[in-house]
Amino acid sequence: MVGYRYLFLAIASVAAGAPASGGAETLSLPSVTQIPAIETQAPNGTASGAGAPLVTSATTVITTHGPYSGTPTTTGAEQGPATISATIPSQPNPWATYYNPNGKLTQPQPMPYMPAGGVGTNGTLPVYMVQSDYDYQSIALGIHQEFIELDLFHYGAQVFSEQDFIEAGLTAEDRALLQYMALQEAGHASLLADMLGESAPKQCTYNYPFKTVREYIDFNVRLTRWGESGNWGFLSHLDSKEVATLLVQAEAIEARQQSVFRQWLGLHPMPIWFAPGIPQSWHWTLLSQYISSCPENNTRLVWQNFPSLHVVNQPNANRISPNNTADFEVVGNRTGDPSKSNIAEDQSCVHVNVTGYDCGPAISRVRNQPLSFPGREVFLEWDDPGKAVGPNNSYITSTTAGQPAFVAWLSQLNLTYTPLNVTGPNSGTTFQPAANVFDADPALNGTAFIAVTDTDLYVTPYNLTLLNPHVRALGLYYSG
Ligand SMILES: *[C@@H]1O[C@H](CO)[C@@H](O)[C@H](O)[C@H]1NC(C)=O
Ligand SMILES: *[C@@H]1O[C@H](CO)[C@@H](O)[C@H](O)[C@H]1NC(C)=O
Ligand SMILES: *[C@@H]1O[C@H](CO)[C@@H](O)[C@H](O)[C@H]1NC(C)=O
Ligand SMILES: *[C@@H]1O[C@H](CO)[C@@H](O)[C@H](O)[C@H]1NC(C)=O
Ligand SMILES: *[C@@H]1O[C@H](CO)[C@@H](O)[C@H](O)[C@H]1NC(C)=O
Ligand SMILES: *[C@@H]1O[C@H](CO)[C@@H](O)[C@H](O)[C@H]1NC(C)=O
Ligand SMILES: *[C@@H]1O[C@H](CO)[C@@H](O)[C@H](O)[C@H]1NC(C)=O
Ligand SMILES: *[C@@H]1O[C@H](CO)[C@@H](O)[C@H](O)[C@H]1NC(C)=O
Ligand SMILES: *[C@@H]1O[C@H](CO)[C@@H](O)[C@H](O)[C@H]1NC(C)=O
Ligand SMILES: *[C@@H]1O[C@H](CO)[C@@H](O)[C@H](O)[C@H]1NC(C)=O
Ligand SMILES: *[C@@H]1O[C@H](CO)[C@@H](O)[C@H](O)[C@H]1NC(C)=O
Repeated sequence: MVGYRYLFLAIASVAAGAPASGGAETLSLPSVTQIPAIETQAPNGTASGAGAPLVTSATTVITTHGPYSGTPTTTGAEQGPATISATIPSQPNPWATYYNPNGKLTQPQPMPYMPAGGVGTNGTLPVYMVQSDYDYQSIALGIHQEFIELDLFHYGAQVFSEQDFIEAGLTAEDRALLQYMALQEAGHASLLADMLGESAPKQCTYNYPFKTVREYIDFNVRLTRWGESGNWGFLSHLDSKEVATLLVQAEAIEARQQSVFRQWLGLHPMPIWFAPGIPQSWHWTLLSQYISSCPENNTRLVWQNFPSLHVVNQPNANRISPNNTADFEVVGNRTGDPSKSNIAEDQSCVHVNVTGYDCGPAISRVRNQPLSFPGREVFLEWDDPGKAVGPNNSYITSTTAGQPAFVAWLSQLNLTYTPLNVTGPNSGTTFQPAANVFDADPALNGTAFIAVTDTDLYVTPYNLTLLNPHVRALGLYYSG
């Protein structure tokens, strides 16, 4: 990994010189008016009002890349002193009958122009630190996501040349945006580390699946989807509302990154009305497959690693006709692995200059032939539990689910089940569901989450985690 100072220089050079689209040499600039202004500079170093320093491992650690081949010195998820129960029973909600029929205030106001109620509104001084094991472990998971993004965005700009980007339809200005997004990650990782303290997880090393710029972007589309959805999943469950407030301000930026990568892949930037949230164990299952090793004594996580669910006919976004996607047309076996980009030129949509078929980078694209559609038969295979995964291969996949019976599809606000037709010990088929969130908003679109379950338990966005004991295997589904 390169240091962040190098990146500042790289961005400056694009801004100052090398026009991406040509033409600046021939542009005669208009004469410019001198407007009222003062000379000023941001305080730095130890000066009062200076910006906070970035966490050291976000800026100085040189990471290597590739698989881990050593022997783990410890295995399994972090565990508390005891576990109370195998599942959490449902409880009645004391607010279930609160209803305001006319919108009039019902309580004395704490001050003018301020209604009663809310959390953290009574003058208690905010403390921007985690408050519980739940908070700690959620933010620790979030740091792993920020660190891999920091490394991944740097790495892409480092291993692929300007020419590689141009061939994928991206300019030097786009590459500068990628480098800027890496810097954003240094800030996000630093913020989260500050809210945990000295035991915050450190930068790890990673093992990436892609070989081309298209595959790289495709991987980023998937990785930023589980990063974003992972944080939405726990944000409003945090005990510390102060931590939640800062995290949501970072997440708003991560969501924009996800849209940018979709645009670079020639996909609709946001083909959904609501972004889905997922439980932490879903996030950790998907993310940990790409972490090869972490420093000695790195703080361990409590979250579960589910067995992988492979979508055999995962649609390939590089194809003019995604129906033509071959089985296992992905670069590897991990659940977030991108589709192969080295397909026959006459099948590829990358350099097709025809509206409706072109999948080169754009602000938005319309696909005349969708990636997938309701009613499509989907072929699935899943791994058995007990596989060593994650940093140093020191976490073990597990499940408490019984016989596989359903496929759960999570996108937007909805978890929809379809029956699983079991065709072998670790395989089955189902049909992509048709369901709307609101009228005219098909639920399943964009990068969706898919799980094989033993039952069709009814869960909603705020209690999705209760499904975990029933998840047999977990994966991603490319829809749209
Ligand atoms: C702080 O800013 C001053 C004035 O721009 C600059 O000379 C100095 O190098 C900066 N120090 C650091 C630590 O960046
Ligand atoms: C103010 O709210 C906090 C929670 O936000 C609560 O812990 C505290 O007891 C409240 N203080 C008063 C005086 O009501
Ligand atoms: C993980 O592997 C790295 C690199 O070999 C090593 O430095 C570290 O101590 C290992 N950590 C654990 C928990 O085994
Ligand atoms: C890891 O923890 C052990 C036990 O607390 C300690 O002896 C060792 O110095 C630690 N290693 C590092 C690199 O912090
Ligand atoms: C893809 O397959 C579906 C289902 O058979 C079919 O309705 C659709 O027309 C096919 N797409 C194209 C472009 O032929
Ligand atoms: C990929 O996963 C499938 C299904 O679990 C398995 O049959 C195959 O051997 C795996 N391939 C590799 C290269 O691990
Ligand atoms: C695409 O086609 C249009 C219209 O024929 C043409 O102006 C444009 O240069 C073409 N672009 C590329 C990248 O081939
Ligand atoms: C289940 O899959 C088998 C094998 O593909 C097929 O023969 C059978 O018709 C399917 N059953 C249902 C209910 O779809
Ligand atoms: C999708 O979720 C919304 C919001 O919870 C709900 O109103 C709607 O009925 C759900 N649709 C389906 C098909 O489950
Ligand atoms: C999840 O919440 C919904 C209400 O939104 C409730 O109907 C359902 O029973 C809950 N699921 C479980 C497993 O408690
Ligand atoms: C997904 O969204 C795109 C963009 O709005 C739309 O063209 C497509 O039909 C949607 N797919 C489904 C299955 O609804």
